[in-house]
Amino acid sequence: MPHLPTVPEKFIQLARTVACPRSIDQNILISMGVHNEYYFNRQVIKDGKLVTSRIQQYGKMSNEWEQWCRKNIFPNFYDTSARISTGTSDTHGAHLDYPGKVRLYYLIDQGDETAETVFYMKPGRPVVHSIQDPEDPDRIVDSHDDLIELERVQFPVKQWILFNGHVLHAVENNSGPRLNLTVDIDPANFSFLIRPQT
Ligand SMILES: [Fe+2]
Repeated sequence: MPHLPTVPEKFIQLARTVACPRSIDQNILISMGVHNEYYFNRQVIKDGKLVTSRIQQYGKMSNEWEQWCRKNIFPNFYDTSARISTGTSDTHGAHLDYPGKVRLYYLIDQGDETAETVFYMKPGRPVVHSIQDPEDPDRIVDSHDDLIELERVQFPVKQWILFNGHVLHAVENNSGPRLNLTVDIDPANFSFLIRPQT
């Protein structure tokens, strides 16, 4: 979405600060019910090999950031955070994002140059899953080898994109810290304004 402004440097620095990996996060997130033990020790099969999935850690941004987002990105978003991918493998396993939202997503650091977001389909299941179904049995799929690869892409750095996380997706070929900002939007508040080019 090249019409949306780039993020001012002071917020990039804030994201780097708040999304710094901290070992204590794991226990806090488990106690808050945000993630469970399984999330932190998830095993993924890729090309016949078992690897431990990378995870995302979250950092809360500031009130000033939220005001900037309301003014410049989306007026009535319901959540925003800075997130960083950490872990020992090069794969964040296939999953659907949490229900009830689509995301405006801004990649600050892509991690390794080879990092790719890979979209998958499970045979017999839809490409685009329900946005609202928390009981979807395919929220997490541990064997990439059982999935049909649809497309692999490299997201642009420092540009907002609209991301529908209700297609199974993974991040592969990345062992580095991948830092991003997200602005979560209730799809009910979302409409497309399509104008003919003049
Ligand atoms: Fe995701």
